[in-house]
Amino acid sequence: MRIPFVAGNWKMNKTVAEARDLVSKMSAQLRQVPNVEKVFCPPFTALPALSAMLEGSDIGLGAQNMHWEEKGAFTGEFAPGMVKEFCNYVIIGHSERRAYFGETDENVNRKLRAALKFDLTPIVCVGETLDQYESGLTSEVVRRQISAGLAGTDSAFGARLVVAYEPVWAIGTGKASSAGNANEVLAQVIRPALSDLFGVETAQTIRILYGGSVTAANASEFFTQPEIDGALVGGASLKADEFIGIIKAAAHTQ
Ligand code: PGA
Repeated sequence: MRIPFVAGNWKMNKTVAEARDLVSKMSAQLRQVPNVEKVFCPPFTALPALSAMLEGSDIGLGAQNMHWEEKGAFTGEFAPGMVKEFCNYVIIGHSERRAYFGETDENVNRKLRAALKFDLTPIVCVGETLDQYESGLTSEVVRRQISAGLAGTDSAFGARLVVAYEPVWAIGTGKASSAGNANEVLAQVIRPALSDLFGVETAQTIRILYGGSVTAANASEFFTQPEIDGALVGGASLKADEFIGIIKAAAHTQ
């Protein structure tokens, strides 16, 4: 039984004051939704304030990125130990990091190992671009991202992983994948690739999320699919009613 998981990726949005305001609009209602693992991933600058606000609640905090090195001359970066001061989760390999900041599967792998070492739950993102989708390369691309990105991970850590399947063409476009198509990628590509790495039994325990234009209106379609265990939500996580609606949909479709 995999507990549904919903994370909001705020991307480069919200000052500290705005972040506090958004969380105060959502936290009372979200706390009342049982059996869904809920995570906010705000910008780094808002993490200290939100971590104080959410102390003692069942709402987790995640970083949107981090460096793999523990410290040193890496201007502008944040180390795993710094992330761990405020967070229990970290998004790794988001397609925007891959597309705009040159992140590779090798970087993803280093970050993943660092996250596990620092007892952070990694949310590893995979997904094909529009070109790859149209050329029928989805399976090949996603399989490679999983096998290279997760290579060498101790299977004891396997169960802690969260994987997010986010077709790049569905992110921020308002054009979500069909729920059936996303489920098929999870069933035929991602879970089998996880089984190859960690064994069938462990792979069955790993939560796999869908991401890309998830809203309160379409969330249930995804969550009722057998392989989809939750969502990584971008735009809709910035709107209190939308995000609350998505979390409730996750609770109702268990
Ligand atoms: P979106 O973003 O929900 O705005 O499409 C999803 C993501 O980037 O994780």
